Amino acid sequence: MRVYRSIRSLAKKVSEIKKRKKTIGLVPTMGFLHEGHASLIRKARKDTGCVIVSIFINPAQFGPGEDFKKYPRNLKKDLDLCEKEGADIIFVPEAREMYPDGYSTHVNVEGITEKLCGISRPGHFRGVTTVVTKLFNITMPDIAYFGQKDCQQAIVIKKMALDLNMDVDIKVMPVVRGKNGLAMSSRNVYLGEDERVQAASLYKALRLARRLFNQGERNSGKIISKMKQVISKEPAAKIDYIAIVDTKELKAIKKISGVALVAVAVRVGNTRLIDNVILN
Ligand code: PAF
Repeated sequence: MRVYRSIRSLAKKVSEIKKRKKTIGLVPTMGFLHEGHASLIRKARKDTGCVIVSIFINPAQFGPGEDFKKYPRNLKKDLDLCEKEGADIIFVPEAREMYPDGYSTHVNVEGITEKLCGISRPGHFRGVTTVVTKLFNITMPDIAYFGQKDCQQAIVIKKMALDLNMDVDIKVMPVVRGKNGLAMSSRNVYLGEDERVQAASLYKALRLARRLFNQGERNSGKIISKMKQVISKEPAAKIDYIAIVDTKELKAIKKISGVALVAVAVRVGNTRLIDNVILN
């Protein structure tokens, strides 16, 4: 496993790999890796000949007042996890390497980025699609891996790849959860002990949605109001949104007839958490 910090040296390595006709799997991350990331690296290891993990806390996807400065980091531990999971190349650029002075180009997917998380995090997805485009151009992956936990991000990236004819297959892997159902996230480290217990209400509410759906309930309004009751019981939890939408345009569904995405965003104390399930 080798760590690259410069785009130029990594690009040289990538062109060698391409010459040898090895397939490249990219796992883009912001570090502070957990079992969710490990599952992506493992899948990439299975599917492709060369696994590249990028670790870059992308300033462009944080809004003013968000947690960019305090975002958790532990490069040593991240490198150990990557090594254990069999990654070949780790790309750890500095911000000025990715966004040198005078940088002025952005990639923006319209419409679907203005819904759900896009409402309370304006500009977030523009930062994500910009950095992911740069990472694709630098590492030239055959397959790139993302987690279903960030369901809107995965949908936006798929749309970007389609619209811009990017020659990369986007694979989305299932949410990995802790014992109490809490979806793995680097931001879980912000939660106090009691908050962590309360944070389990997101998945409790999502499980309830699935149960109601399985019992035949198709009215989204009714499902959402029962989910609200579950989360509102927790004193530290403040709901940002609970939505039932289609998986392409993220339009609200009133009466569920096909596949539906149930997505929640909740602030628990100062930590904003997201989670989702798909009803099918
Ligand atoms: O999901 C993340 O960690 C980030 O949004 C990503 C895809 C690495 C882009 O910075």
